[in-house]
Amino acid sequence: MKEKVLVCTAWPYANGPIHLGHIAGCYLPADIFARYNRTKGNEVLMVSGSDQHGTPITVKAEKEGVHPAKIAERYHKQFLKSWEQLGISYDHFTRTGTDNHRKVVHDVFLKLLEKDYIFKDSMRSPFCQKCQRFLPDRYVEGTCPFCESPNARGDQCDDCGKPLNAEDLVNSQCKICGATPEIHETEHYFLRLTAFNDKLLEWIKTKKYFKPNVYHFTKQYLKDGLKNRAITRDISWGVDIPIEGCETKRIYVWFEAVIGYLSASKEWAENSGDPEKWREYWQDKNVKTYYFIGKDNIPFHTIIWPAMLMAYEGLSLPYEVPSNEFLTLEGKQFSTSRNWALWLSDYLERYDPDPLRYLLSINMPETNDADFSWYEFYRRNNNELVAAYGNLVHRTLTFTFKKFDKVVPEPGELEDKDREILDLAKKTLADMDESLKLCKFKEAIRSAMSLAHESNKYLEVTSPWKEIKENPKRAATSLYVAINLINALKTALYPFLPFSSIKLHGLLGYEDEIESHGWKFEEIPAGQNLRKPKPLFKKLEEEIIEEEMERIKEQSISKE
Ligand code: MF3
Ligand code: ZN
Repeated sequence: MKEKVLVCTAWPYANGPIHLGHIAGCYLPADIFARYNRTKGNEVLMVSGSDQHGTPITVKAEKEGVHPAKIAERYHKQFLKSWEQLGISYDHFTRTGTDNHRKVVHDVFLKLLEKDYIFKDSMRSPFCQKCQRFLPDRYVEGTCPFCESPNARGDQCDDCGKPLNAEDLVNSQCKICGATPEIHETEHYFLRLTAFNDKLLEWIKTKKYFKPNVYHFTKQYLKDGLKNRAITRDISWGVDIPIEGCETKRIYVWFEAVIGYLSASKEWAENSGDPEKWREYWQDKNVKTYYFIGKDNIPFHTIIWPAMLMAYEGLSLPYEVPSNEFLTLEGKQFSTSRNWALWLSDYLERYDPDPLRYLLSINMPETNDADFSWYEFYRRNNNELVAAYGNLVHRTLTFTFKKFDKVVPEPGELEDKDREILDLAKKTLADMDESLKLCKFKEAIRSAMSLAHESNKYLEVTSPWKEIKENPKRAATSLYVAINLINALKTALYPFLPFSSIKLHGLLGYEDEIESHGWKFEEIPAGQNLRKPKPLFKKLEEEIIEEEMERIKEQSISKE
């Protein structure tokens, strides 16, 4: 049965380039899931956009001495290019700076205000005497009152992931001048989270299928008890507050960014020519909504956004929040500030997208942190993509092309070993279906690779290059089987390695869209014309390991 699926990914802050940690954390898994669902025949809406507001952008803009809009634009363009090059297949990737987003945010704000889920109150907020300004969110740093990490910022602690109120930071400092801030009274709007504590606890009880870290974090957070949170700030960059007298304040970036999922869906519908179409994804109880995010974003997606949706009423709550753990780089945490990072755009300048997608899939930080190392990249590319899968494809197709007149050969009678391996191909696609449905991507790609290994063994045993002289019908049969195995692998690996699967689809003689063939074993008929084979992957030189390690080290030193 055809289903509709809403695939959301976290909105990247438009204050810096995308690194591999972000890709492994949420963009790649979301794309795998979207491509798999489209191949199943499901209707997918995959949305996100640049998170262009808030202090992450203004801090960067002040550092460079340019207007925040310029920063936001620059990185938005880079993101679009990155998605294209890496094959992250959004249906709509927009930004929080659009009029549409502002309108949708205002609608949510006013509706919640009317229902008294948003209320006005005064609060105590850090104010820097020297800089003569309030210090919202990232403008104040200090020690986390929960976990005592020294890396906490005004709105969240990066180490324990808990959202904070700036007033509660210990030993706080102004990010700009280092002074100890004073605490001043200021008026703000608050989200009445306390009204949703019980409802959320009931809701999370129905979410036992969440990953353990997502489930336990959320449950514990709710058990500790929610507090009402300020959702406006003393800042001049962001979505304005639709009420008179608030001209010097803006809506808190997190409150409006999560609304982006809805505003992007509305914008997509508008662009598609059917402005009401978003409702099919948001108001139909049978439609499942997935939120792919990194683990530092959990509370915003399992508590604050669901509370906002409950308050608004009439829109679906998240079905699944498959948050990933962190990726490390050569054993150390990615750090933008220390420049210990591998930027996606740098990677794509030198290498193809699929080998990266491969490594980050087969070694995905799904339930534990995982590491990216250049050695692993090199090893897996050469041993697994080139020598196992790529070679299976290339030797089968070149031999067939040469000896069987460029077409899929007519098989003789199938023997047990032929039937067994073809059954394994069918089973692999069926098993992968089960894994992919549950967002178990690592398990899925491992099944596909194990089929590639078994297929290689099959070719070794049947050796059509030897059989061709004595027993050409047998050779034709095993090549026919091998081509069908390759065709199954093409489908199985498509969500992970879309570029090479699309290429292979063409080599196998197809001219249509790969997704239209469905998630199933499909027999290639004998006689189908093949195209001139080309290798799917490139072998890498061992030297790249040293070179790339040097590059990361130099880049991190030059920053210090
Ligand atoms: N910009 C945030 C980050 O990079 C993520 C925002 S997700 C959203 O951590 F949905 F709220 F937009
Ligand atoms: Zn200051």
